Amino acid sequence: MTRKTLILGLETSCDDTAASVVLNGRNVLSNVVSSQEQFHRRFGGIVPEIASRCHLDYINPVIDEALSKAGVTVRDLDGIAVTYGPGLVGSLLVGVSVAKALAYTLDLPLMAVNHLEGHIYANFLTGTTITFPLLCLVVSGGHTSLIHMQDHGLIETMGRTRDDAAGEVFDKVARALGLGFPGGPIIDQLARQGDASAFRFPRALMTEEGKLDFSFSGLKTSVLNCIRREAEKGNRVKPADLAAAFQDAVVDVLVEKCFLAIKKKETKQFLLAGGVAANGELRRRLRQRLSNENIELLYPPVELCTDNGAMIASAGYFYLHRGRTAPWDLNAVPNLEL
Ligand code: KG4
Ligand code: ZN
Repeated sequence: MTRKTLILGLETSCDDTAASVVLNGRNVLSNVVSSQEQFHRRFGGIVPEIASRCHLDYINPVIDEALSKAGVTVRDLDGIAVTYGPGLVGSLLVGVSVAKALAYTLDLPLMAVNHLEGHIYANFLTGTTITFPLLCLVVSGGHTSLIHMQDHGLIETMGRTRDDAAGEVFDKVARALGLGFPGGPIIDQLARQGDASAFRFPRALMTEEGKLDFSFSGLKTSVLNCIRREAEKGNRVKPADLAAAFQDAVVDVLVEKCFLAIKKKETKQFLLAGGVAANGELRRRLRQRLSNENIELLYPPVELCTDNGAMIASAGYFYLHRGRTAPWDLNAVPNLEL
């Protein structure tokens, strides 16, 4: 491998078409994300068919922009990394097909990256030195998982959601309150003006001794029922109070499970990753709790928490380093686990 390794990372697992050029797995030279929010907003969620069609339209211009912003051409690249799962099959297929075509025609190695692992690698792009072993909470629109990483490629999932992902519930609650999509950032902002004690929502599995799995569907139902009940009674509920009380329940559970994980596995650093890692209250409460244990909390900047190509390029660089390249018959794997 050359000393300077340039990887092009492609990410199309959901509704963002993203491409990025990363140097040596750590320096982001460009990071282009084309959001499809405007097309999905009126449906209050992502429509898979629309997402895959948009990826087809966007992928080439997004790659061109990523290369030009990085000041490189395809001839300078040392490898192509792409998300091959988990995600929406039609969306994944666009990225996988383009990555295979590029890598084959340019005679470059192809790296097939697990999307969840990609999210963890966003933390390698911040300039902070990462030390193994480490713990990571990957919390996004599709996943909520507590992960122990012994080293690159040595990953163990300690707990995961048994039903809905935390981000998904943020989106559903925001939709029920008529706040828009995606709901996470809106609820995060709104909750700052609300009173979290105005309502009390359930914290599922929180007190189950030693268990690291999550469950958020009961919380979702409880919040949606509350909104309906109050409307039927003609009560004017303050959306900010509801947002604050709901967010408080999610954060309580997430922080408690992270704390349980550090009791099971020793670590000096705790990483947050995924879209919900952008949440201000989660960052604040977790930092507070971990500082009491002398554990450093790390998280990526907001633009690297949500889906992006840079995290895929970074993970791809470390895959390449270990010789973990993908075969030409690589396919999308929608239900891929870590
Ligand atoms: O990682 P991501 O971009 O896509 C998936 O892999 O799912 O995560 C998107 C999710 C959405 O559910 C969105 O509402 C949530 O992350 N999110 C947030 C915040 N920013 C994004 N949730 C809570 N607070 C935020 N500030
Ligand atoms: Zn994601």
